[in-house]
Amino acid sequence: MLLQHRTTLTQYLIEQRRRFPGSKGDFNALILDVALACKAIARAVAMGELGGLYGEHAAEAGGAINVQGETQKKLDVLSNELFIRMNEWGGHLAGMASEEMTDPYQIPANHPRGKYMLVFDPLDGSSNIDVNVSVGSIFSVLRAPQDAIDSGRDLIEKDFLQTGATQVAAGYALYGPTTMLVLTVGNGVVAFTLDPNLGEFMLTHSALKVPEDTQEFAINASNSRFWEPPIKRYVDECLAGKSGPRAKDFNMRWIASMVAEAHRILMRGGVFMYPRDNKDPSKAGRLRLLYEANPIGMIMEQAGGRASTGREPMLSVSPSGLHQRIGLVFGSKNEVERIERYHSEPTPREIDNPLFAERTLFRD
Ligand code: AHG
Ligand code: MN
Ligand code: MN
Repeated sequence: MLLQHRTTLTQYLIEQRRRFPGSKGDFNALILDVALACKAIARAVAMGELGGLYGEHAAEAGGAINVQGETQKKLDVLSNELFIRMNEWGGHLAGMASEEMTDPYQIPANHPRGKYMLVFDPLDGSSNIDVNVSVGSIFSVLRAPQDAIDSGRDLIEKDFLQTGATQVAAGYALYGPTTMLVLTVGNGVVAFTLDPNLGEFMLTHSALKVPEDTQEFAINASNSRFWEPPIKRYVDECLAGKSGPRAKDFNMRWIASMVAEAHRILMRGGVFMYPRDNKDPSKAGRLRLLYEANPIGMIMEQAGGRASTGREPMLSVSPSGLHQRIGLVFGSKNEVERIERYHSEPTPREIDNPLFAERTLFRD
């Protein structure tokens, strides 16, 4: 394919900016810096064992534990570092927050501060990194509070606690067989594929739409004994297939790399669930609201899909903490709505539904 047949990420951003004649170009420069960080991470990931970057960070010291209580991989730490270094100098950011940093990152005094805040999961699915499964980076762009923009003060946790609906942009990079960048600036969802020869992201997918119906679901079924009744019911009904209440067969997938599951769902539909469960009462879910659920939620909604806690739309949740965990359900609209309906309805009792009872695989 000849170069002139493809739109580059830079060209796409410039064309989008023309919709806002007053804009100064800060936002575009920010997204290009994020894209550069993603390209650098893609290279590091692609080197695999040869790069000497597999395994745990500071393994000799027993491994470093992040604020989530998870052991950081070398590539988690490097990816976080790349996001910071590529984005701190440009003058577009008031501050940053990351899965791998307990507190907000303050822009150093030798760089100007700007009006946006960047929140990211530098490497999602990193438990899979050593086995060469697709991983990715997830990011969300928020506007800093006006007083922080005016004064250039340090950011505090509270500044980041905005609903997902306020996101200016969201996206992810997927480091799979090809490296892709998926982006929404609030005007639909587009995807770029990295041309490794040119080092440029080329527009390959425009106006992405998540099919409203699906026969594919993704959930970590090893947690089934901890699920709440609405999720048990939904999965039971999928597993019952053609002869069950859904009257169709379903397929199941679990990559254990949420960004890769999100990409599959964006491309061909499906539903992803990492719901709230009762495995650990101190955690309201597995995934994190600000840098996993909200950006993926914005992408899904912008592509005509849906994202939810099961009880309310994800993008309307008021965050209570930078690293807050939350139950997450997203994907094909009709399935997510069905799961929400199951949460709002009383659970059908087996006695009311003898057919269902006979077929249930996950009994209370
Ligand atoms: P991270 O690597 O950023 O900590 O996130 C991993 C997440 C997510 O990508 C995936 O869906 C989930 O963890 C997998 O969890 P299980 O190991 O419970 O399947
Ligand atoms: Mn993650
Ligand atoms: Mn991560």
